[in-house]
Amino acid sequence: MYAAEGVSVVMKIIVVGNEKGGSGKSTTAVHIALGLLITGRRVATLDVDSRQQTFTRFLSNRAQYADTHGLDLPLPDHRILAPADLNDKAAAEEETERRLDETIAELEASADYLVIDGPGSDTVLSRHAHSHADLLITPVNDSFVDLDVLADIDSESFRVMRPSRYCAMVFDQKKKRAARDGGSIDWVVMRNRLAHLNARNKKRVEAALEALAPRVGFRVLPGFAERVIFRELFPRGLTVLDLSAAGIRMTMSHVGARNEVRNLLGAVVRRKDTARPKVTAQPRTA
Ligand SMILES: Nc1ncnc2c1ncn2[C@@H]1O[C@H](COP(=O)(O)OP(=O)(O)OP(=O)(O)O)[C@@H](O)[C@H]1O
Ligand SMILES: [Mg+2]
Repeated sequence: MYAAEGVSVVMKIIVVGNEKGGSGKSTTAVHIALGLLITGRRVATLDVDSRQQTFTRFLSNRAQYADTHGLDLPLPDHRILAPADLNDKAAAEEETERRLDETIAELEASADYLVIDGPGSDTVLSRHAHSHADLLITPVNDSFVDLDVLADIDSESFRVMRPSRYCAMVFDQKKKRAARDGGSIDWVVMRNRLAHLNARNKKRVEAALEALAPRVGFRVLPGFAERVIFRELFPRGLTVLDLSAAGIRMTMSHVGARNEVRNLLGAVVRRKDTARPKVTAQPRTA
C-alpha cells in the first residue's frame, strides 16, 4: 500500500478516453487496472460505456475463468454507470453528472486508483468523467484515420492544420476541472497497435503527434505494439501480466507485451501525493 511511502493517499482518477471507436481504450484500461491491482494497489474500476460494457464483460470472463480453473485472480471493485433516463434533457444531464460524482465520492475511501473506461463517442458521462481525470490516457491506433479525431492533417504535407473536436472537448473539461477544484488534467496520448517494422506511416503519425502535442498539451507514450495476445486474452479475462499465474507458457511476443504494459504502468503510478480535493456529490436539485 502506498500510504507506506509517507504520503497521504488521495485516489488517483485515470480516465481512458477517445471518441474514436476501437482505438484500444478497453484493452488499455483493463491492463492498467489489473496491472495496478496485481502489483498491490487498491483499485476501483468504472465502466461508463454502458452500451458495450467491454470492461465489465472482461471482468465477468475473468471471474468465470478463475472459477473454472481454480485460480486466485484478483478483481477490482467494479461499477457500471448508465446515463439518467429522464424526459427533460437538462435534468437528465444534471442527474447523470450527479451520479458520477456520487460514485467517485463513494470510492474515495477504499481505492488508491480509479480507472474509468470511456465509450467511443461523445456522451455526457464521458465528458464529465474527463473533467474528473487526474490522468487522461488517449490510445490512438497508428493510423491517420484514427489521428483524424485529434487533428486535421494536410493531405499533401501530412502537417497538422488544427486540433479537432476531441481536443476541444478535453480543453473544455480541463477548464471545468480547474474551476471545480483548481486541479489539472495530465493528458497522455498513447500509441497503440504499433507496427513492428519502422514503416513510413508509423514515422508520419509520430511526427504529426509530436507536432500536435505542444499545441494542445499532451505527452506522447509509445504504448502497445500490434500483438495477437492483446486480442486473444479477452474471452478468458486475462491480461498479459497474468500469463505465468495462469500457467500459460510465455513466448517472446508475450514478454514484449508484458514489458509494454509495465512501461505504461511506470508512467501511470503516482510519484507523489497530488493532493486532489475529494469529490463531493451535490444534492439533487429537484
Ligand atoms: N495492441 C493491440 N494489438 C492487437 N489488437 C489490439 C490491440 N489493442 C486493441 N486491440 C484489439 O482492437 C479491438 C478494439 O480494442 P478495444 O475494444 O480495446 O477498443 P476500444 O477503444 O475500447 O473500442 P470501443 O470504442 O468500441 O469501446 C479489439 O478487438 C482489441 O482486442
Ligand atoms: Mg471499449
